[in-house]
Amino acid sequence: MGKMSSGTASLIAEDEKRDIYKSNERLKRYIRDKVNQLLTVMGTRPLNTEELDDDTLLDLDPIGIIALSFEQVLEHLKETNKKLRIAKDQLQAVFDTAGVCISIVDPELRIVNCNEKQKELLVSGNKEVIGHYCYEVYCGKDSPTLDCPAIETIETGRPVFIREVKKKGRNFQIVTSPLKDIDGNVIGVIEVSIDVTEKKKAEEGMRQAEKLAAIGLLAAGIAHEINNPLGNILGYAKLLMRESDISVGQREKLEVIVEQAKRGNEIVRGLLDFSRQSRPAFASVSMNEVILKALKSLSNQIDRQGIKLVTNLTKIPMVEGDPKQIEQVVVNLLLNSIQAIEDMTDRTISIETGYTDSGVEVRVIDNGHGIPEEILPRIFDPFFTTKPVGKGVGLGLSICLGIIKDHDGSIHVESEKGKGSKFSFHIPAMSA
Ligand SMILES: Nc1ncnc2c1ncn2[C@@H]1O[C@H](COP(=O)(O)OP(=O)(O)OP(=O)(O)O)[C@@H](O)[C@H]1O
Ligand SMILES: [Mg+2]
Repeated sequence: MGKMSSGTASLIAEDEKRDIYKSNERLKRYIRDKVNQLLTVMGTRPLNTEELDDDTLLDLDPIGIIALSFEQVLEHLKETNKKLRIAKDQLQAVFDTAGVCISIVDPELRIVNCNEKQKELLVSGNKEVIGHYCYEVYCGKDSPTLDCPAIETIETGRPVFIREVKKKGRNFQIVTSPLKDIDGNVIGVIEVSIDVTEKKKAEEGMRQAEKLAAIGLLAAGIAHEINNPLGNILGYAKLLMRESDISVGQREKLEVIVEQAKRGNEIVRGLLDFSRQSRPAFASVSMNEVILKALKSLSNQIDRQGIKLVTNLTKIPMVEGDPKQIEQVVVNLLLNSIQAIEDMTDRTISIETGYTDSGVEVRVIDNGHGIPEEILPRIFDPFFTTKPVGKGVGLGLSICLGIIKDHDGSIHVESEKGKGSKFSFHIPAMSA
C-alpha cells in the first residue's frame, strides 16, 4: 500500500514538473514576445528567438532598455518642443510687429487670431476679438457685406485683392488668402489690410499741385489775353462818357459798361495773382506789421459793416517771406470772414498771432455761417465758390494756399455749418 502510494506520488510529481515546465516556457515565450513588441515600438531591433535564452533574457534587462528609450524619446520631445516654442515666439513677434494689419478667421468668419496693428486700427476700445465675427468687430456690421473678400476666398480657395476700402474713417487695401489643411481644404482665411490713408493723401496733394500748376498756366494765358480788350473797352467807355452830347440814358448805360469792365479787370487781377508766375521776393517780415497793414486796407469795409474786430497780436519772431504776398493771404482770409458774417446780427472777427513748433501762427476767426462738412475738402480748389456770380470767383483760398506753400508753411481750417470758422496758417520763424 505504502509502496503503491509512493509510486503514485512520484508519478504526480513528474506530471506537476512537466506542467510547471510547460507553463514556464509559455510565460517565457509571452515575455519574449512582449519584449520584442515593445522594442519594435521603441525602434530597437527585435530579439532573435535563438539568442534569447533564459540568461540572455535576464542579462538584456528589457525594462532597462525600454526605460532608456523612453528617456531618449522624452529628451527628443523636449528639444523639439523648445524649437517649436522659439519658432512660435518668432512668428508671433513678426505677426505683432508687422506694419500691416493681419487677422485669421475660420470658415464661419469667426476671428481666430489678430495682430496688434489690426487691433490698433480696426478694433474700437477694448472690444473682445477672438471668437467674434470679423464683420462685427472690424466692419461694425450685423452680417457680412456682399463684397466681403473673405467669403470669396472661402468659396473659391483663391486670394482676393481689394484696391481700396474705407473702414473706421481710414483707407485700406486688403488681401485675403486661403488657409489650407494638409489635404488642401480651406480651413480659414488670412486677411492682410494695409493702411493707405497717408499715401492717398500724399497722392491727392500731388494731383492737386499738378492741377493747380496746369490751371495757373491756363489762367495766366487767358488773363493776359483778356487784359488788353478789357483795357480798350474801359478806355473807350470813359472817353464816350466825357462827350457832352450824350443823353442821361446813354450815360447810365456807359456807367454799366465801365462798372462791368472794372469787375472784369478785378477777375483778371485775381487770375494773375493765382498764377503768380513771379517767385516771392523774400525779406525779413514782421507778421504783426503785415496784419496791421491788411487791417488798414480793409478798415473802411469793417467800419461800414459794424464789425467788431478783436486783435490779439502777441510778441513773435520774424519770418522770412514776401510781405506783399503774406498781406494778400491775410486780406483774402479777412474778406472771406467779412462775407461770411454779412447776414449775422452779431458780427465779430478775431485775428490773433502766436508762436508754435510749426512757426509763427496767424488765426482768423469769425462767427459767420460756417462751412458745411461736404464742401470743406473743396474750399481750396481753384474756382470753387458758393457765392453768387459777381461776388466770388473762388480763387481767394487757392491763392492763399499757393502763397503759404511757397513759404514752406501750412494752412488749416476748422469750421462747422452755423458755428463760424477758424482759419490758421503757419510760416516757419527765422532762426535767431
Ligand atoms: N470764413 C469763411 N466762412 C464761411 N465760408 C467760407 C469762409 N472762407 C471760405 N469759405 C468758403 O470757401 C469758398 C471758397 O473761398 P475762396 O476765398 O477761395 O473763394 P470765394 O471767396 O468764393 O471767391 P474769391 O475769394 O475769389 O472772391 C467760399 O465760397 C465759401 O463757401
Ligand atoms: Mg474769398
